[in-house]
Amino acid sequence: MVNSTELEALVNDSKPKHVAIIMDGNGRWAQQRGKIRVKGHHEGVKSVRQVVSSALTIGIESLTLFAFSSENWRRPEAEVSMLMKLFMTVLTREVKKLHKNQIRLKIIGDVSAFSLAIQTKISEAEELTKHNTKLTLNIAANYGGQSDIANAAKQIAIAVKNGDISADQIDDKMLGQHIAMAEQPAVDLMIRTGGDHRISNFLLWQLAYAELYFTDTLWPDFDQTAFEDAIFSFVNRERRFGGTGEQVRAILTKQQ
Ligand code: IPE
Ligand code: IPE
Ligand code: MG
Repeated sequence: MVNSTELEALVNDSKPKHVAIIMDGNGRWAQQRGKIRVKGHHEGVKSVRQVVSSALTIGIESLTLFAFSSENWRRPEAEVSMLMKLFMTVLTREVKKLHKNQIRLKIIGDVSAFSLAIQTKISEAEELTKHNTKLTLNIAANYGGQSDIANAAKQIAIAVKNGDISADQIDDKMLGQHIAMAEQPAVDLMIRTGGDHRISNFLLWQLAYAELYFTDTLWPDFDQTAFEDAIFSFVNRERRFGGTGEQVRAILTKQQ
């Protein structure tokens, strides 16, 4: 029988360090309400705020959110341009708050495809928050898991060509050092909302050992409680403590 201090230590030990989320279902959320799809994207920003704030409370080190995939350019032009506008607005409006909460912001993906205005906002935000240590918030924008691996291969090929390394030295460890977020803890929990059970070219390399959590909840309905449920399920899958669900939840949501 573990006592409550031991239980707290066990729960804190089993918390995920890095959580990644495919935020899916915005369009359907809007359509179900007779609204245009972009309303769902607007509403989804509220869920982002709740999840970021909850990740801070729980004491997660890295949170990675899939905001725009390299395939999402195929969407109708009006939706893409509206998503870009929303991205710009959110970057402008929320960065100060992130900084105040000691959150480091990082964008992963090929940002060169975005407008110069967005690229400037991104560099300013990353520069402003780069020394923050409470939580790293990675936003995957124009990101593709396959391109991530191809880029790593390209960097290694250049090193071979320059004679810095030989082809024999290439192994998984070396490739992993060139993959996005190599400096952060491994992703241990991947959540997808919106009911589909696929990866959609999100993190591929990084999900090698991740627990996968799928929920039918559409992203705009995914709130703090839904996020806590996912974390709770991860902690429970890891170990059985002999404690009650309420105890574990109370420990998780105790301000870090
Ligand atoms: C995810 O929601 C958000 C982005 C891809 C930007 P969707 O827009 O894919 O919503 P559904 O899947 O069509 O409901
Ligand atoms: C994945 O959702 C991309 C993001 C959440 C940004 P999609 O809705 O684009 O993925 P598919 O089309 O269902 O695979
Ligand atoms: Mg979708």
